[in-house]
Amino acid sequence: MKGIILAGGSGTRLRPLTLGVSKQLLPVGDKPMIYYPLSVLMLTGIRDILVISTPVDLPQFQRLLGDGSQLGLSLTYRAQHRPVGLPDAFVVGADHIGDDSVALILGDNIFHGHHFYSVLAEHSTDVRGCVLFGYPVHDPERYGVGEVDADGRLLSIEEKPEKPRSNTAITGLYFYDNHVVDVARNLRPSERGELEITDVNRWYLERDAARLVNLGRGFAWLDTGTPESLLQAGQYVGTLEARQGVRIACIEEVALRMGYIDSDACYRLGVRIGPSEYGAYVRTIATELADGG
Ligand code: G1P
Repeated sequence: MKGIILAGGSGTRLRPLTLGVSKQLLPVGDKPMIYYPLSVLMLTGIRDILVISTPVDLPQFQRLLGDGSQLGLSLTYRAQHRPVGLPDAFVVGADHIGDDSVALILGDNIFHGHHFYSVLAEHSTDVRGCVLFGYPVHDPERYGVGEVDADGRLLSIEEKPEKPRSNTAITGLYFYDNHVVDVARNLRPSERGELEITDVNRWYLERDAARLVNLGRGFAWLDTGTPESLLQAGQYVGTLEARQGVRIACIEEVALRMGYIDSDACYRLGVRIGPSEYGAYVRTIATELADGG
């Protein structure tokens, strides 16, 4: 399975924060926002990942993450010249996807939950159709909304409905089979003038090939769209990290635990990061796991 992180957009609701910096590079706790979606793809077992952003912002992502080899990944970069909607990621990324299935994650989506790793592993093997991830929210009208029947079968998907049929938001993590490239290529813009991911998902739903996995209230799916929600996301991460002494979305740790790099390589990354607490954490984890921890 290939991975795509879509990190475009202009982050208008966060201005002036986003006037000089891409939204997905803003800090959430002690690390850049893109670390969170990147670690989700890494935890899914995906090592071949395309980062899509605006031509102006793309070099910053490259500076941050390089070619990914330090993490045992292959990271490539493509510019999206016009923000025509999320499904454009499959058109821009068609070569990258090739004949494979693909996981798309939005660069501003933050997930955290116990055993997320096993949820991801379970649903990413042998993807047929599409797999969507639902999460209960109090303001579903801001999102794609999924309606399921008593047996958990997906009945409808609507984009930002005025009168939502459920409180289940469809999060910004999507697994698709290879049809998605053609579906995206043949999509027409919605009334908003954009290609909608919800229309892609509906294409699968109409063919009885869309599944909604409910993450449920035990998970955290955090919003980063406004200054207030961005701050809350940072506080959530900071609170858990301080309490537990572990880090959420530490990409060096994920690479080590997933076996993408060994503990020596991880330690060197910690040295390169330098004297920050994050750098110290990476070095500690590398030492602990080298000792069989
Ligand atoms: C997009 C999708 C929406 C989804 C959301 C998740 O909305 O269109 O269906 O629920 O991402 O973050 P946007 O954030 O682009 O308004």
